[in-house]
Amino acid sequence: MSTNTVYANILTELQEGILTITLNRETKLNALTLGTLQEIRAAVQSAQRDPLVKGIILTGSGQKAFAAGADISEFAHFTEDQATRMSADGHDVMNTIENSEKPVIAAVNGFALGGGCELAMCCHMRIASENAKFGQPEVNLGVPPGYGGTQRLIQLIGKGKAIELLLTGDAIDAQTALNLGLVNHVVPQEELIARSKEILQKISTKSPVAVGKVIKCVNDFFRPNVNGMQREIYEFGESFITEDFKEGTDAFLNKRKPNFPGK
Ligand code: COA
Repeated sequence: MSTNTVYANILTELQEGILTITLNRETKLNALTLGTLQEIRAAVQSAQRDPLVKGIILTGSGQKAFAAGADISEFAHFTEDQATRMSADGHDVMNTIENSEKPVIAAVNGFALGGGCELAMCCHMRIASENAKFGQPEVNLGVPPGYGGTQRLIQLIGKGKAIELLLTGDAIDAQTALNLGLVNHVVPQEELIARSKEILQKISTKSPVAVGKVIKCVNDFFRPNVNGMQREIYEFGESFITEDFKEGTDAFLNKRKPNFPGK
């Protein structure tokens, strides 16, 4: 699939090197069906192969919700097997986003609850509009989070606050999320996409090779049985044989701006 693929549940738009993926079920507060998640994964995977894509924004349609969770009406009657598969596949989607070598920003334009919060958390950064709300309300439904929420919330805000939010199911507002380190910035809703693009545009002037390597090294900090320090040593050494490294150092030494080939 290419970045021009037409999807049923998401919209994609490529503009000036930035692919915007918009969850497009506004009347259902962009609740995530299994089909929606598969489409997000396909769009992110195809972006990896598209040299025109420098960064990705994930956002929700409308002004009320990023995503109000996994679609409850879809999974309400699942068997244990179906639920296990749903969770495993959801994890795979979130991992695909987290492991994207192109930076992914969640532009959170309203409710990010349950699977919506998990989707925002697997992105590399989160920019929230002032009306955004974050929470993991699954305990109200008789389930724990199933798309990585118990793990990534701890990674982002620490065990003490994470377990409080996970056990109470309470939602927090954007300012509280900012204070806890769950989001990077809070901006008025009308500036949300522009601010997200601004950050990605800045990153797009850097070496794509180095950007991809930084993402890998950072992700390895949280991988059990993987030594992030060793990963960093390896990635650092390997970067010396890339054209980006030659361009970056040559540009510095010749007092000019680098123009990275991305290889
Ligand atoms: N799954 C399926 N449908 C959902 C949904 C979800 N997670 N979240 C919202 N919707 C649907 C509602 O059923 C409603 O559909 P309808 O108009 O056909 O009845 C529509 O989206 C609008 O939601 P509504 O509840 O009327 O909006 P609200 O402003 O009163 O409340 C929320 C907003 C987010 C507080 C509320 O929708 C909610 O609690 N959603 C579920 C959150 C959740 O538990 N997520 C975790 C799922 S694992």
